[in-house]
Amino acid sequence: MRMDDDTMPIIMAPIGMPWVQQLEPFTATNILSRGPNDERAMDHLDLGHHLYSLMLQGELYLVPISKNPQNVLDVGTGTASGQCHDFASLHPSAKVIGTDLSPIQPSLVPPNLQFEIDDCCDEWVYAANSFDFIHVRGLYGCVADWDKFYKESMRHLKPGGYMEQVEISVVPKSEDGSVDGTIFEKWGVVSLQAGDAFGKTLRIVDEAKDRMIAAGFVDVVERRFKLPIGPWPKDRHLKELGLYNRLYWEEGIQGWTMMLLTSILKWKREEVELYLMEVRQGLRNPKYHAYHDCTVVYGRKAPEIPEEE
Ligand SMILES: C[S@@+](CC[C@H](N)C(=O)[O-])C[C@H]1O[C@@H](n2cnc3c(N)ncnc32)[C@H](O)[C@@H]1O
Repeated sequence: MRMDDDTMPIIMAPIGMPWVQQLEPFTATNILSRGPNDERAMDHLDLGHHLYSLMLQGELYLVPISKNPQNVLDVGTGTASGQCHDFASLHPSAKVIGTDLSPIQPSLVPPNLQFEIDDCCDEWVYAANSFDFIHVRGLYGCVADWDKFYKESMRHLKPGGYMEQVEISVVPKSEDGSVDGTIFEKWGVVSLQAGDAFGKTLRIVDEAKDRMIAAGFVDVVERRFKLPIGPWPKDRHLKELGLYNRLYWEEGIQGWTMMLLTSILKWKREEVELYLMEVRQGLRNPKYHAYHDCTVVYGRKAPEIPEEE
């Protein structure tokens, strides 16, 4: 393994940890994160934040939380690029905690925001019934046991507290059949297969709502969005979204795939490079009218039932 390789996976490591300290062979149990946490990956998370904001027309979240939440948790906060940071600025009443496996958070943040290094797949260390709002975005491929995750979330919400989750599909589609039989179709199949083999599913976009309901969340609402890949839509908003999303893909595909395909699916590195070349060509092909789904799901822990008199 090359020491300077910026696409290799990180295992619960501070930035710059020598790759040689990683355990081999890679398996779902000794690789904690599916992607790298280097500078390029951090820029990519910031770009993702812009994309999500654009998709939600500038909203930070859709969940109807109160104006003055007190305790808020953002699980897998990444660079906290906007979500956590903006949330803390907009809600000075709230004490906001952002957690992540990687220490990639900024140091200049609002005083009511703090970060903790934590694996959300472990038992959560916070007091039960303590959060007004738990936020999750982009944890597809990061969680081995989602039922356990939702249970932990439920346990840590205050009665009446909300959880919102935003997830993206890894399966490009088209309404006019233009991606059928193309590299985009292969991308969807390969990605789902890689997530399954890794033991951390990439299918959560389609499962989140039902799993939240099964975990006991009430008043669950799902809003589905289409994220165009490329500036092919006629609608101005969708065109802009597609333009940013294509950049998001172009900057992201290597980090998304390299570890999963080489270490988990056992592809040769050269095979992955060729595959990515084809994907890059697909991303620039104006004949492909591809999009992928994004979901925003929120629900709440039932409010306490008042004691009978
Ligand atoms: C796709 S990024 C999303 C970051 C952020 N939520 C956002 O939307 O910008 C996924 C993040 O989850 C973190 N992560 C992965 N597995 C995790 C785990 N088991 N516990 C906590 N964080 C995890 C990664 O380090 C990464 O920062």
